[in-house]
Amino acid sequence: MRIALLVHLLGAIIWIGGMFFAYVALRPAAARLLEPPQRLPLWREALGRFFTWVWVSIAALFTTGFHMLADAYGVKAVPLYVLAMAAIASAMTLIFVYVYFIPFKALSAAVGGSDWRAGGRALNTIRRLVATNLLLGFATLVVAVIGGLLA
Ligand code: HEM
Repeated sequence: MRIALLVHLLGAIIWIGGMFFAYVALRPAAARLLEPPQRLPLWREALGRFFTWVWVSIAALFTTGFHMLADAYGVKAVPLYVLAMAAIASAMTLIFVYVYFIPFKALSAAVGGSDWRAGGRALNTIRRLVATNLLLGFATLVVAVIGGLLA
């Protein structure tokens, strides 16, 4: 159970921390220092690497989450905060899957064809959806920790 929780928290830290770094640190720095022909390929490379880890984190969060569920509650009623955690995490996962297969693929294609206008549009969509997922990620943490305290 403790090992599952450790892996669970590692998944949450990598996913939410990575989004925080991308949004709060890399985004303003890249926008200030780089023009689209340098900035968009940088995002394509950086996000491509980060997204691989997001897939791993999602797999870890769901596997350990359901493992802990079965272990701690079995057939007993699952507390509302755990259901809420799983529900928000599922919404985050759907948003991520959309980002990966639609705007991120569009960004990759735009960078491949040096189409900076289309690349900028795709990156803008990614930026908005990552901001949404970052807020949902914070909400999941609040639900998990405060809900756990109150339960
Ligand atoms: C972004 C996604 C998620 C985040 C940030 C997150 C965060 C957390 C945190 C911080 C805890 C520790 C709570 C504590 O010990 O006070 C926790 C525990 C737990 N999480 Fe998640 N979680 C996520 C996704 C999921 C998913 C998808 C499931 C699937 C069912 C899940 C099931 C659980 C369970 C069963 C526990 C142990 C609850 C308990 O008995 O205290 N989590 N999670």
